[in-house]
Amino acid sequence: MAVQKLVIANWKMQLDLNGSIKLAQDLRLAAEGGGLLEHTDVVVCPSFEALATVADLLEGSRFKVGAQDVFWQEKGAYTGEVSASMLRAAGAELVIIGHSERRKYLNEDDLTVNKKMRAALAQGLVPVVCVGETYEERTAGHTDLILMRQVIEGLKGIPLDRESRIIIAYEPVWVIGTGQAIEPSEAGHASDVITQSLIDLYPGDVVEHQTSILYGGSVDEDNIGSYVGLPKIHGALVGTASLNADKFLRLIHSI
Ligand code: PGA
Repeated sequence: MAVQKLVIANWKMQLDLNGSIKLAQDLRLAAEGGGLLEHTDVVVCPSFEALATVADLLEGSRFKVGAQDVFWQEKGAYTGEVSASMLRAAGAELVIIGHSERRKYLNEDDLTVNKKMRAALAQGLVPVVCVGETYEERTAGHTDLILMRQVIEGLKGIPLDRESRIIIAYEPVWVIGTGQAIEPSEAGHASDVITQSLIDLYPGDVVEHQTSILYGGSVDEDNIGSYVGLPKIHGALVGTASLNADKFLRLIHSI
């Protein structure tokens, strides 16, 4: 039996409400025509502003909806924040946590990732934790250490019940948005390091059945097959190439 693949579209802050509506409508229409691959789940992550509208537009289709961030508290005086239950109510099933842009521009660290993971899991959202080295960390030869630290500190002490699932997205920070992805063999090595870190945290059967690893960073229709074909990489997190419906559907069909 073929293993189910996963493609997550991260729309970042690239589209306003009208742009998000248009892309969701285009995707739905195009997918109805050609049909999505049976063995690929597809999740789109619009901005908070567009989340509920996009979820309504895609209801009943093969597309699911996720969020790009979550706050760790459930309710209270936290100006500007959005809780996991609010995301659920808006239609999200999954949430990206600790994306490198949030680590860079909003000073998020492994501790905030850990708190956000707990909040997401408590509300039944699937957390997609982004890990990856910067160019400086890579050239200093610290890639493996960074990955181990981000996985172990980000997930430390988090129990996983039978229904819960965790996704780790390996995204080398220095290739995001550049159009220049890394060698598949490097992504394969990173997926081994991440798996080993997960095995340090959870029993082997939990790692096997309740966690999965994606690759992200300049994924496009030409290169996606070389990552998603790797033994431990189950899918991709896609930014730029997810902003055009035809392009994105071609990418999905190229797996
Ligand atoms: P990219 O972005 O596909 O444009 O490199 C990926 C991401 O940041 O998740």
